[in-house]
Amino acid sequence: MPDNSYINAAKNGPAKSPFTAPIKTVPVLTVPENASPELVEKAKSTASAWQLSFDGNISRGLVLMQSEAHLALKQLDEPKVGEVLVDFASDALTFRRLHGGGKKEAVAKAVGLKGQSDWRVLDATAGLGRDAFVLASLGCNVDMIERSPVVAALLADGLERAQHSAELSAWLPERMRLHHGIAIDLMANWCNEPANLAPDVVYLDPMFPHRKKSAAVKKEMRLFQQLLGPDEDADGLLAPALALAKKRVVVKRPAGAPFLAQQKPHIEMQGKANRFDVYLIN
Ligand SMILES: C[S@@+](CC[C@H](N)C(=O)[O-])C[C@H]1O[C@@H](n2cnc3c(N)ncnc32)[C@H](O)[C@@H]1O
Repeated sequence: MPDNSYINAAKNGPAKSPFTAPIKTVPVLTVPENASPELVEKAKSTASAWQLSFDGNISRGLVLMQSEAHLALKQLDEPKVGEVLVDFASDALTFRRLHGGGKKEAVAKAVGLKGQSDWRVLDATAGLGRDAFVLASLGCNVDMIERSPVVAALLADGLERAQHSAELSAWLPERMRLHHGIAIDLMANWCNEPANLAPDVVYLDPMFPHRKKSAAVKKEMRLFQQLLGPDEDADGLLAPALALAKKRVVVKRPAGAPFLAQQKPHIEMQGKANRFDVYLIN
């Protein structure tokens, strides 16, 4: 992989943890037909960095596709289903960054950014890094933890491309860091690592089982669910998060979902599609 100094591999890696990622499908990393030898080499090195398999001649199933432009998750049997990738310079994220309401956004209010400029946030369930990006664009220093090697590879690719973006390179690389590992373990040992400072806020957004299939669940979300399934061990995230955060723990939940670990928050904030449960630390 190119410069990946912003990625911290977890010392207590996934293999040692009882909280292993509930991967439903393990995609193979591949390249488009007629890929150049350089692209094949790049794809092989990405596969090896994330301990994924490489197969240059695959035509079916869920794959990670390394193209010249980016790394993306793709269902080859369903060409109409869009690909999933991390693009911090996308139109949607750029619009949200420039016109999304800033510190008045629900997630910013839940994290408590009003009057704060450089809070340290630990996003312990990073996913595609969108919430982390919004918080970083508002001035937060964000450490992201992601346990799935496939999702972490997508995030690393997005971070790497952001380093070359005219709009993002000046601030994003120094405000967003990726840690690959199991959040429950990493949070328990967070302050033992010399490079890690205790976060003001721990942010949690575990996958919630969606009852409705079909159009209601966006195509991209369907791919993600096929890859990861629900985070069945999500309740276990709350206690280490409460022990680590200096100011608050924020949990993003779908509207109507039960509280994480059945623990009532101090504040419930209703966003457009989600609820933010806020646990204050005295
Ligand atoms: C719903 S997604 C998060 C979406 C994210 N907030 C965003 O804005 O893109 C949840 C992610 O958390 C990860 N995850 C869940 N439990 C975890 C754990 N214990 N440790 C590390 N990652 C975890 C899952 O693999 C998944 O990628």
